[in-house]
Amino acid sequence: MFNSLQQQPADKILALMQLYKDDPRENKIDLGVGVYKDASGQTPIMDSIKKAEHLLWETQETKSYVGLTGTPEFSEAMINLLLGDKFDRNLIASAATPGGTGAVRQAFELGKLANPALRVFVSDPTWPNHLSILKYLGIPAEPYRYFDAKTRSVDFPAMMADLSNASEGDIILLHGCCHNPTGANLKAPEWDAVIELLLKSGATPMIDIAYQGFGDGLDEDAAGLRKLVSSVPETIIAASCSKNFGIYRERTGLLTVVSHNKDARNLHQSTLAFLNRQNFSFPPDHGARLVTMVLSDKDLKSDWIEELETVRKSMLSLRSQLANELQKVSGSNRFGFLVDHRGMFSRLGASSEQVSALREKHGIYMVGDSRLNIAGLNSDTVPVLAKAIVDCGI
Ligand code: LMR
Repeated sequence: MFNSLQQQPADKILALMQLYKDDPRENKIDLGVGVYKDASGQTPIMDSIKKAEHLLWETQETKSYVGLTGTPEFSEAMINLLLGDKFDRNLIASAATPGGTGAVRQAFELGKLANPALRVFVSDPTWPNHLSILKYLGIPAEPYRYFDAKTRSVDFPAMMADLSNASEGDIILLHGCCHNPTGANLKAPEWDAVIELLLKSGATPMIDIAYQGFGDGLDEDAAGLRKLVSSVPETIIAASCSKNFGIYRERTGLLTVVSHNKDARNLHQSTLAFLNRQNFSFPPDHGARLVTMVLSDKDLKSDWIEELETVRKSMLSLRSQLANELQKVSGSNRFGFLVDHRGMFSRLGASSEQVSALREKHGIYMVGDSRLNIAGLNSDTVPVLAKAIVDCGI
């Protein structure tokens, strides 16, 4: 039976990870996969997470199953982080998932269950795995223009024009903050305009938020999401703990459905439990438990916030170092957009030939669409990258 299997397309980001690993050059620079690295190139375990892990090891007495949607404590802690403590909990159904990708996958499955003719409007560009999962599930992806390649910022009029084609029964997928892959984000008045459009069209927003705390701060990065959730009748949120808690391989995420119709909550909650059961049964618990412990303990939480702030500020500092260095070596301001972008990524705007030249000539790895992971840099490699960018004619 397996003779009929066809080679599936390789994931571009993961394929690049492998290419980097296989490159024997000692001075190679990895700006590919979205994993935070400190100045020494390590992806450290946060101290707050280590402490929670220690405590868990000492106190945990069973590894028996928890609920199909994870523990209520994890949901509560994450909802607090995402929506704040004032938001009415009676409007919320939620389920722990294997990472943010698990939440995205379950969200699409939920949409399809509710509407077999579901279409999902996705920013052009978006995280490639959004498109890949949609294709796998047979759900049409409707790209909406998002990124202006000239200004390297959001082409908001074009985005709104394309989103005006969405209607009730469609999902509009938005990135909560730190847009992946471009780094260009909506401003507050633009979130307001999107909310207006959603109210008019009846389409359902889905917010993928994988980098809360990496942009302007924990609350700032959730501001658009919070306003939207309070304003529109239904919202889906797919949240990841991989990056902001640095627990990538623990696969920790949360899928949340907010509905202003209180009577619908139980149905939503049992549907999320059903979907988990069909796909993987119980979600992973270890990472979710660590996150719960960190967010529920005053000291651990303040340690974590401090660590996250260090990460955020180091990326902001690398952004300005790189923009300054590029200004020096190129003699122009054309890379000024780097300081306006937020999060781990920026799309540089290089051709695929130029991206290949960076890799082949200089051992600098970035995704083929010229997305670079700012956190892959340090103050020694910033000047190396800047020179190489100019050398490759970018
Ligand atoms: C990325 O975009 O690099 C990360 O979200 C990692 C991944 O799974 O693709």
